[in-house]
Amino acid sequence: MLSQQTIDIVKSTVPVLEQHGKTITTVFYKNMFAAHPELLNIFNHANQSQGRQQTALANVVYAAAANIDNLGAIIPVVIQIAHKHRSLGIEAEHYPIVGYHLLGAIKEVLGDAATPEIIGAWGEAYGVIADAFIGIEKEMYDETEVATGWRTFKDFVIANKVQESDVITSFYLKPADGKQLPSYKPGQYITVRFRIPGDEYTLNRQYSLSQSPGNEMFRISVKREDECVTHGKVSTYLHRNMNIGDTIEVSAPAGDFYLDTESTTPVTLISGGVGITPMMAMYETIATVAPERQVAFLHSSRTRKHQAFDEVLRNMTESLQNAKYEALYSEEGDGFITREFLAKHVMEGSDVYVCGPTPFMQAVISALHTNGVAEDKIHFEFFGPKEQLELQNA
Ligand SMILES: Cc1cc2nc3c(=O)[nH]c(=O)nc-3n(C[C@H](O)[C@H](O)[C@H](O)COP(=O)(O)OP(=O)(O)OC[C@H]3O[C@@H](n4cnc5c(N)ncnc54)[C@H](O)[C@@H]3O)c2cc1C
Ligand code: HEM
Repeated sequence: MLSQQTIDIVKSTVPVLEQHGKTITTVFYKNMFAAHPELLNIFNHANQSQGRQQTALANVVYAAAANIDNLGAIIPVVIQIAHKHRSLGIEAEHYPIVGYHLLGAIKEVLGDAATPEIIGAWGEAYGVIADAFIGIEKEMYDETEVATGWRTFKDFVIANKVQESDVITSFYLKPADGKQLPSYKPGQYITVRFRIPGDEYTLNRQYSLSQSPGNEMFRISVKREDECVTHGKVSTYLHRNMNIGDTIEVSAPAGDFYLDTESTTPVTLISGGVGITPMMAMYETIATVAPERQVAFLHSSRTRKHQAFDEVLRNMTESLQNAKYEALYSEEGDGFITREFLAKHVMEGSDVYVCGPTPFMQAVISALHTNGVAEDKIHFEFFGPKEQLELQNA
């Protein structure tokens, strides 16, 4: 239990954190990686270099500080991050390392303003926040171990590689030990891990499972992010260098963005570009376990050549009783998904799932709000660290 004095100090430093939060986390990462370069095997270097991870961590630290006497209010956020942590193999013993360097960075950035009282209060508060994460992650590890028989990563073999469009290729992954796959919730992702020969550190990336559970293999469908010559490291390597028979490490399915298969309410799936992947798992699940359920699949791609799974979706839609599928091609005269389009196609009272590039999500979610879709009906996934969506009135 934190004392009232500690709570008061932590809460009163929230404005200072807001002012310096990103600088503090940037210094923190620099110092932590200098002292623990082995952690570079876990962190996504592209997210680091663009400051996305720093922003995400800073936002959560503000939220935790503002709610330090009522951490229950941020449990949904903790759970979402804990899924990511669990899928990356973050362990309890990592937390003191982060705590040590976070406090060190606060001292370094705030200088004399960081009195021993403030540092002491933050040390205690960090301990409480870390314990919340560790507790939830322990439950997740235990559940995963019981359900899958594996705790973090295990080897998978690429059993098939299929080009789905000009930019998207699917990889079918089967466990190297020949064991059965665990079930998962449609919409969840896995983390893949490998080291490029000659590189110092392993690379980790999340990919949504693009098929319903119950198949013999995991399928991920990866967009080649090589429009920028120097980046797109993992996706480009997968496309160009990873082939049938190659081995890759995979962690058990994770994530809190998934279809509620118990419910019978109508479902609207809205995706942009490679955001189609979790929707494929959801649509296929509906087709398999609840073919009578009302469902609309709304998808936007740049061109027909960019789009994956069009034919599969058309066939699946024909076989369903209450389904519709609408595809737009923004560079072929259809434009983007608009508020009017959503007003026409989003079913009344439906649970709405959204996934796509950040500007797509901002536009779609803002339009859903304007159209009066209730907040608790909108579910979304970011293909990167969760950022604050800047929503405008569409
Ligand atoms: C939950 C989840 C599910 C996902 N599911 C899928 C999926 O189903 N399919 C899929 O294709 N992807 C998915 N992703 C995204 C995926 O994890 C990777 O982020 C993606 O493949 C890009 O990784 P990369 O290594 O190729 O690119 P990176 O090298 O990580 O680069 C990512 C982007 O950042 C830019 N960039 C990198 N470094 C810099 C820099 N120094 N300065 C400026 N810009 C830079 C690149 O140009 C690129 O656009 C998912 C992500 C999450 C979090
Ligand atoms: C209380 C302490 C912590 C907080 C508040 C925190 C917060 C966050 C947040 C907000 C994200 C982004 C989640 C998203 O994708 O939306 C994240 C991701 C991540 N965290 Fe933590 N975290 C904490 C502890 C740790 C520890 C101890 C480690 C391991 C050393 C760690 C490693 C990671 C990694 C590797 C990612 C994925 C980021 C990437 O590579 O892009 N975190 N964390």
